[in-house]
Amino acid sequence: VSEGPTSGPAIPDAFRARGQGQVFRFFDELPPAEQAALVAQAQGIDLDLLKRLSAQASGGDSALPTLAPFTPITRDSPELDTAVATGRDLLDEGKVGFFTVAGGQGTRLGYDGPKGCYPLPVPSRMPLFAWFAECVRAASRRHRTKLPWVIMVSAANEEVTLDHFCAHDWFGLEGSVRFVRQRMLPAVDDDGRILLASRSSIALSPNGHGGSIDALADGGALQWFEECGVEVVSYFQVDNPLLNPADPAFLGFHRLGGWEMGAKVVLKSHPLERAGVVALADGKPAIVEYTELPEDLARATDAGGRLLYGLGNIAAHTLSMSFLRRMAGAGLPYHVARKKIPTLDASGEPLTVMGRKFETFIFDAIPAAEGFFAFLTERSEEFAPLKNAKGDDSPETVARALENRTREWFRRAGKPLDPGRAVPEITPFVAYDFDTFLLALPGLTASGGI
Ligand code: UTP
Repeated sequence: VSEGPTSGPAIPDAFRARGQGQVFRFFDELPPAEQAALVAQAQGIDLDLLKRLSAQASGGDSALPTLAPFTPITRDSPELDTAVATGRDLLDEGKVGFFTVAGGQGTRLGYDGPKGCYPLPVPSRMPLFAWFAECVRAASRRHRTKLPWVIMVSAANEEVTLDHFCAHDWFGLEGSVRFVRQRMLPAVDDDGRILLASRSSIALSPNGHGGSIDALADGGALQWFEECGVEVVSYFQVDNPLLNPADPAFLGFHRLGGWEMGAKVVLKSHPLERAGVVALADGKPAIVEYTELPEDLARATDAGGRLLYGLGNIAAHTLSMSFLRRMAGAGLPYHVARKKIPTLDASGEPLTVMGRKFETFIFDAIPAAEGFFAFLTERSEEFAPLKNAKGDDSPETVARALENRTREWFRRAGKPLDPGRAVPEITPFVAYDFDTFLLALPGLTASGGI
């Protein structure tokens, strides 16, 4: 659950002594099994860490770093062909491992289940996990090897996720997919008091996607990647079905530059888009959250009218195994999120309060990397995240993005689709990027449907 568990024979007393006695408010009424479960949960909580985090949350804003623009690598680079060849070699040699983070709570989507089980807005209603499983299978087929895949889950969704994979026969990937579990942290009120989720359980939430590095190490998956011969990890989120996790250019540039970490970026759609941006912060590469980017800088442009801080983070990264090994256990900084948290009042009645959750972010590893690059990709090719039930980044926008991309692939291949006709569904096993689409096209047209 946390870094340094509180120990000792009398956990409830230890909590009371630290001003956290409310955790055991209903303890005496609980049956022994629930008492034991609550004590076990409490035992895993590092009260010192929590105190530090609450103090940090109340401490006000820290000083902003001095920012400067960062120059990305683009697909116009003269080294593109070499990078693609290098990336293909890495994939052919089985030196790439996939890593999906899927431990989040998906609160905004409001779906009753892990986001990875959400049926995509495509005719087949394929769930996100199945979609990425097709990607992994297709990339393995294309590169004639078995590329390993690790998925991070959390206590909030582990059971349902594993059942989902089991019910689908591991999507044909048994033996080459593994799960790791991230740690959880308690949610607290504005005074730093731990909140209960029920009379016998603490309100815990996953420790952010930054928890993925420790989760890889804790769960033995770093070791497994090593045994599989992985040298570069392709990290991505479960909610962006357009992403190509087996992009030879991105992987190849990582290797060519000898970098330890890379980030795929897209140009921001407008200056105030809610996306972190890649920049130099106090001279070091970093991703600066949109909340931390002053509006005048967010709007600032160069002589050509391009945003100075326009490289939007899409949360797809390359990570060297050596870097992951070094960062495991190193600890990333915590960020505080104010969120609505369902809890109980003093008499045990349910209520929702504004409280605090603590999360780490994977991109906070960037300043520690010996060598970092950003790789600019097209939003229309690779970015349409599923975040909300309606409006921006919703099933509707994802469906449109997938359709537009398919239309564009047909157009680029010289076989434009009739504007009036329905766009065929292309799932990743058929094609997960334009190159694989070109390979699949003769079969698609021969089948008569196109
Ligand atoms: P988001 O920050 O968008 O969170 O996560 P979310 O859980 O999907 O949705 P909200 O904010 O509750 O609405 C981006 C990616 O990071 C993963 C998510 O599963 C998603 O793939 N993530 C997030 C984790 O794996 N663990 C976390 O603790 C947080």
